[in-house]
Amino acid sequence: MNMQSDVPKVVSTTLSPSSGGNQIGALLIDAGKIIPQDAEQILRYAKEHGLRFGEAGIKMGLVTRDDIDRVVARQFDYTYLLPGESAVGSEVIAAYSPFSQQVEALRAVRSQLLLRWVGEDSVHRRVAIVSANRREGRSYLAANLAVVFSQLGERTLLVDADLRHARQHDIFGLSNGSGLSTILSGRAGVEVIQRIPALVALSVLPAGPLPPNPQELLNRGSFATLLSDLAKQYDVVLFDTPAASQAADCQAVAARAGGAMVVTRVNRTRLSQMKSLVEGLAGSGVTVIGTVLNNQ
Ligand SMILES: Nc1ncnc2c1ncn2[C@@H]1O[C@H](COP(=O)(O)OP(=O)(O)O)[C@@H](O)[C@H]1O
Ligand SMILES: [Mg+2]
Repeated sequence: MNMQSDVPKVVSTTLSPSSGGNQIGALLIDAGKIIPQDAEQILRYAKEHGLRFGEAGIKMGLVTRDDIDRVVARQFDYTYLLPGESAVGSEVIAAYSPFSQQVEALRAVRSQLLLRWVGEDSVHRRVAIVSANRREGRSYLAANLAVVFSQLGERTLLVDADLRHARQHDIFGLSNGSGLSTILSGRAGVEVIQRIPALVALSVLPAGPLPPNPQELLNRGSFATLLSDLAKQYDVVLFDTPAASQAADCQAVAARAGGAMVVTRVNRTRLSQMKSLVEGLAGSGVTVIGTVLNNQ
């Protein structure tokens, strides 16, 4: 047995944004934003004026607020993309502009969902993103919410269950040769789930080739089997769905997921439509976890 020695333990520390300029300076140098001489000048200026390193650098015009945000993000291992750096499309603002107001709002939605899920088993960590009409922002919100969950380190899976107007493969720059439709029809397995290399904890199951019988496929027992297999591998599973006014598919997906988040969009969704969607979901035993107003 190993005896505990008197040698002090080396405590590993993680950097925090307020832990002094040196680390931020080093990260900015690593990122090629400044050279060491700049860092020294900034440090001196910061000391003289009682400023933090980042603030001083910005004041001196040597770095931008964006540079600082990026290095701080990296300190937290926060995945974050530069335009053109990946096949992930620009609609995924949570990856490209994580500090924007819109993404702040998405994180608030994430918090609400997490609060409701506290203490629940994995079944309750699934949510279908539903809405009444086309172009209300379901796909957009599903994609961005999936990214903000993954940024928390939650193993996140986004399933494109819109087998009519599939879009997640386009949004994330993935192939759609196989996906949910091929799994449900027994022609593929979970290996067709694709990791998004640039976003550490995120995986996407594209819709796959659009089938002639989406509703029948979504009602098959193979969907339930797939979900119970996935429950062990992912902390959070989000489902993109077709518009409720187009087909009953969304009810089938929401029923399998057990929970739904209803999206409404200003100047598009009528209150009566939203009401009947919520009633329909509740009638089929789906928990309506919340509603989100897309006001863009
Ligand atoms: N909050 C938003 N901000 C900017 N663009 C948005 C927003 N919500 C939706 N869009 C855009 O509106 C269009 C329709 O959204 P989409 O998510 O495809 O709708 P749905 O999946 O409900 O049919 C897309 O081009 C999408 O990028
Ligand atoms: Mg869509």
